[in-house]
Amino acid sequence: MTEERPIDGHFTLVQLTDTHLRAEGESVHGSVDTFANLTSVLDLLVASGQRVDALVFSGDLADDGDPAAYRRLRDAVEPVAESLGAATMYAMGNHDDRAAFGRELLADGGSDSDRTFDSVRLVSGVRIVVLDSSTPGRHDGRIETPQLRWLAEVLATPSPRGTILVLHHPPISSPVTTVDYLRLQNPDDLERAISGSDVQMVLCGHAHHTGAGSIGGVPVWVGPAMSYRVDPAPPLGRHRGLAGFGFTRIDLLESGFTATAVEATPAAVVYDESRQSVLAKLADLSRRAG
Ligand SMILES: [Fe+2]
Ligand SMILES: [Fe+2]
Repeated sequence: MTEERPIDGHFTLVQLTDTHLRAEGESVHGSVDTFANLTSVLDLLVASGQRVDALVFSGDLADDGDPAAYRRLRDAVEPVAESLGAATMYAMGNHDDRAAFGRELLADGGSDSDRTFDSVRLVSGVRIVVLDSSTPGRHDGRIETPQLRWLAEVLATPSPRGTILVLHHPPISSPVTTVDYLRLQNPDDLERAISGSDVQMVLCGHAHHTGAGSIGGVPVWVGPAMSYRVDPAPPLGRHRGLAGFGFTRIDLLESGFTATAVEATPAAVVYDESRQSVLAKLADLSRRAG
């Protein structure tokens, strides 16, 4: 595996999940302009000037597998990734269509619906492994035996700065019954495959609510969706979606990998100061506190 960016101490992966894009002029659930959500976040990333090593899309990229949705995604993401100098990786979700996903995003025209789209890249010394947890015609998730074998082979050799594993379906339970019903169906197989390996974190989407847990001691992060929220505390007996979207930044910091949810729903600014002046105030406070 060739190194795609020199190792220089920093690493930031941006996880965008559940973009649920549709063809131009179409909205999701009759009200959400998911393409506008995507472009606002891509603009935010460019405008922030922050370093981004990898842009990782963890499934449900399209809302209904429409090839036009994948073309919109590719055309919006590629120039941004290029300007950021970021590697891009795409995972399949239950709303995606394998043939359209492969053809439009990966320039891979394979038509065998049994094949899975799994990939691995080394970015700034961090190995990013993407697993396809979708099953055509189903909404729950599964990692098949050949994928588990492939994963074990990939993980047999440690990478310089550890591995981040990405798959759409969380291998952990959700307090939202409907979401829980559609989680990964064979988490024990996944746990065995990553046991004793250098996997530092498992990144998922699918739930449309932010959450965290662990599998075999490895942290699992369920990222906030880019399209809309599933309400994790609705009135009893109800299942509902709410407006709102965001993404996750995964940073390799002094203490290891950290997942941080970034709210991207337009919101009023409470304060906006220079970092330098805030740090100076904090230093002054700690001096006075002795
Ligand atoms: Fe989704
Ligand atoms: Fe999903």
